[in-house]
Amino acid sequence: MAKKYANTKKYINRLGFGAWQLGNTDFWGYMSKEDGVLLVKEAIEKGINFFDTAPGYAYGLSESIIGEAVKDCRDKVVINTKFGHTASGETDFSVFSLREQIYESLERLQSEYIDSILLHNPSMDILEGKTQHFNELAKIKKEGLIHAYGVSIDTYDEFRAVLDHVKVDVIEVLFNIFFQDVRPLLNEAHQKGISIITKVPLDSGWLTGKYDEFSEFEGIRSRWDDETIQRRAHLVRELKELTGAEDLTKYAIGFILSFKEITAVIPGIKNSEQLKDHIENQVYELPQSLKEAFIKLYDEKIKDEPLYW
Ligand SMILES: NC(=O)c1ccc[n+]([C@@H]2O[C@H](COP(=O)([O-])OP(=O)(O)OC[C@H]3O[C@@H](n4cnc5c(N)ncnc54)[C@H](OP(=O)(O)O)[C@@H]3O)[C@@H](O)[C@H]2O)c1
Repeated sequence: MAKKYANTKKYINRLGFGAWQLGNTDFWGYMSKEDGVLLVKEAIEKGINFFDTAPGYAYGLSESIIGEAVKDCRDKVVINTKFGHTASGETDFSVFSLREQIYESLERLQSEYIDSILLHNPSMDILEGKTQHFNELAKIKKEGLIHAYGVSIDTYDEFRAVLDHVKVDVIEVLFNIFFQDVRPLLNEAHQKGISIITKVPLDSGWLTGKYDEFSEFEGIRSRWDDETIQRRAHLVRELKELTGAEDLTKYAIGFILSFKEITAVIPGIKNSEQLKDHIENQVYELPQSLKEAFIKLYDEKIKDEPLYW
């Protein structure tokens, strides 16, 4: 289950931990700092060792929770954080602020190094290598403050630009049954030795099967209009028919892990029940027939009219 991570010396479990939810009351509902620390410690006890965070998650609290939880076992875990959306809520992608933002993350993480840092949804100019970001990151990596670097992106065009123009250790990308935009590029990235981390694996929760057309959403998920909710609900029903199951979580994660080019998947985890569920399901191997059915569903019913985040 473990894979070597991003040209570093560490190995990670393919089931990672999406930490946007940690302490993120505004976007995802209430979670105290103490509960967040306990959740991360429980995840480590259960074998998870990859954590995906960012300064902008809960105004720095997600990083602080991870820092507090892992301070006695820092070398056993891999922390992937980001650059560009700061803890104060500002967006700042200026090259000269890279070091400063890294030092701020290190302080919150109570660490002397960051395993990997990703440019957090940067502009196309940056992805096409027209700026100094990757030169600066290479320098900082040589100094040992960071061990690897890359980008967090969403679409085929962004992924293509990275493969064509810049050298990175890691790409984090939006990928799930309902959004398979970059599927044709996974193998090429893998061949280049790039670690691939897949974000939003449950389509923000839809691919658990627990929402339908009557569900109401708050926080970050209030972005969907009625039409989008109806369409997602309809597609979820189709998945339930294909799998014969009401709970789709293991199929959604299993679909991603069935792509051997993918290094790890990072479901956003809010509580101990969700954590235990993922731990139990991580051994599930998706049958090839279902994988093909999920690809067909996407190709025939979603691809031409994408379901955006
Ligand atoms: N730009 C970026 O770099 C970026 C953007 C998005 C995400 N990410 C990263 O990717 C991670 C995952 O994405 P995401 O959290 O947005 O979406 P996600 O993983 O697709 O969905 C997370 C939601 O799914 C539900 N869930 C998770 N596990 C469950 C389980 N076992 N049983 C039932 N429900 C479960 C929870 O919903 P409820 O809240 O309803 O319980 C949770 O909030 C984030 O935490 C973050 O680390 C990065």
